[in-house]
Amino acid sequence: MASKKLLLLPGDGIGPEAMAEVRKIIGYMNSELKSEFVLDEGLVGGSAYDAHGAAISEADMAKALAADAVLFGAVGGPKWDSVPYDVRPEAGLLRLRKDMELFANLRPAICYPALADSSSLKKEIVEGLDILIVRELTGGVYFGEPKEIRDLGNGQKRGIDTQVYDTYEIERISGVAFELARTRGNKVTSMEKRNVMKSGVLWNEVVTATHKTKYSDVKLEHMLADAGGMQLVRWPKQFDVIVTDNLFGDMLSDIAAMLTGSLGMLPSASLGAPDAKTGKRKALYEPVHGSAPDIAGTGTANPIAMIASFAMCLRYSFNMIAEADRLESAVAGVLDDGLRTADIMAEGKTRIGTAEMGDAILAKFRALAA
Ligand code: IPM
Ligand code: MG
Repeated sequence: MASKKLLLLPGDGIGPEAMAEVRKIIGYMNSELKSEFVLDEGLVGGSAYDAHGAAISEADMAKALAADAVLFGAVGGPKWDSVPYDVRPEAGLLRLRKDMELFANLRPAICYPALADSSSLKKEIVEGLDILIVRELTGGVYFGEPKEIRDLGNGQKRGIDTQVYDTYEIERISGVAFELARTRGNKVTSMEKRNVMKSGVLWNEVVTATHKTKYSDVKLEHMLADAGGMQLVRWPKQFDVIVTDNLFGDMLSDIAAMLTGSLGMLPSASLGAPDAKTGKRKALYEPVHGSAPDIAGTGTANPIAMIASFAMCLRYSFNMIAEADRLESAVAGVLDDGLRTADIMAEGKTRIGTAEMGDAILAKFRALAA
């Protein structure tokens, strides 16, 4: 493959610190493995607002659309709490998802053996956990219209969000879930609230029909989303792939993340449809954690979710499977060695900072390549 165009959008808070560690890995891959990544960088979130008065500039949007993949850090912080709603930091991320048509959000929740004790759940419940949440990302209540606060003229206001899904949106996201299930445990659990929502009734129907016509070799199960949340903390290992809508996926993936010990561990990939001619998908990779403004600048953030997001990028955007496997093994190896950032610190382990964690992972990655 020719050069690989990567756009880095470090964003706010701990985003830039975490991204700096990925940069080290890319630098090594370019100089020693001849990986030919071509890097560009842009602003998103509060940092873009400060520079351009928008959560992402048109120029950076154009770069994102032209890149082979985007690596995204995190956005937001108290500094921008009172900026207008349309240009709040999160609007940059939502625009990227929408304009790049990144409808499939893959959020793996893997419990590294070395971290089974850091989970808020008992070790036997989470040890060996490996589930994948497939969250619909460009529809539902996040983008449905009308979306407004209406003045009712009688001293009352009405806040309105619209939950809306069309057949094709449910078909394509469930297709992604079934395809991925075939490469793993061959089971999909679909979650919605068909007991109270029409969009849930349709969701259930379309997933069932898609399964019947194209994926009947995969085991399909339906669960109400509230019960799903409960089952995730009761017995998470019953799941393989979970497919759900945008809002339930947002919540369920945070729950799943905590099973693994820390939000600082979880990567994600947001993918578009394969291009009809080239087969390439637009893609954005981001840690599930936020900008953690409380610890930004202290050098203590955990860069693992960002680094693991880059591993997903190697896997899904560049088909560099061996390198992705090796980078993930490097992360697991460093944890096995007892190295921990503050968020996953435990008795008897060695506490290190962001840059040291990045260096340790790079050293392992390099050693595994030798
Ligand atoms: C996520 C985040 C975003 C979301 C925010 C930052 C808009 O919570 O990616 O899970 O709600 O989708
Ligand atoms: Mg979220």
